[in-house]
Amino acid sequence: MKFFIDTANLDQIKEAQDLGILDGVTTNPSLMAKEGITGHDNIMKHYVNICNIVDGDVSAEVIATDFEGMVREGEALADLHDQIVVKLPMIKDGIKACKYFTDKGVKTNLTLVFSPGQALLAAKAGATYVSPFIGRLDDISTDGLNLIAEIRMIYDNYGFETEILAASVRHTMHVIDCAKLGADVMTGPLSSIVGLLKHPLTDLGLEQFLADYKKGN
Ligand code: E4P
Repeated sequence: MKFFIDTANLDQIKEAQDLGILDGVTTNPSLMAKEGITGHDNIMKHYVNICNIVDGDVSAEVIATDFEGMVREGEALADLHDQIVVKLPMIKDGIKACKYFTDKGVKTNLTLVFSPGQALLAAKAGATYVSPFIGRLDDISTDGLNLIAEIRMIYDNYGFETEILAASVRHTMHVIDCAKLGADVMTGPLSSIVGLLKHPLTDLGLEQFLADYKKGN
């Protein structure tokens, strides 16, 4: 399972990268705004800064909602760095743009996916990643994890190679449940990654081992 961090915060990206277990980064316009990164040029520079920290794929989202605009923006994003994955919204022109980039060998991530039918279309268009938003489904009392299970079944039935990128992950249990269900990738905040480290018995056991060592030395 690949671990992506879902942030535009460079310090948090560095912290996850330093752990040695980071496989990539996802961003979106809201995450950029949260870090105060505004304006086309600053946003483009920020993507390059992120690529220079991590080794893996970095999803960069287009703002356009029409095919021509998505192609124009996506090409500019892909030209920034070879780690960039063009992130496209799950709308009709997003599917068309996905197929366009697939045919050109450019990696894509279909975002804002909330149903198995949308995920099926993403796979048909050859998306590299499909991003079902599990947290936002949970927010409206719908089982986000069930969507991961449904997409897994559909993709396995037909051998689709599109990777299931469980997005809108909010906490450690989402990560564990996604792993059980066979999501290929998860993207979440730093807390959902480092939170996996925690167990009181680990802390207690280590404390005891160190105390016992000191007794004999
Ligand atoms: C994924 O690519 C999105 O950026 C993200 O996971 C959305 O998460 P949220 O629902 O916590 O905003």
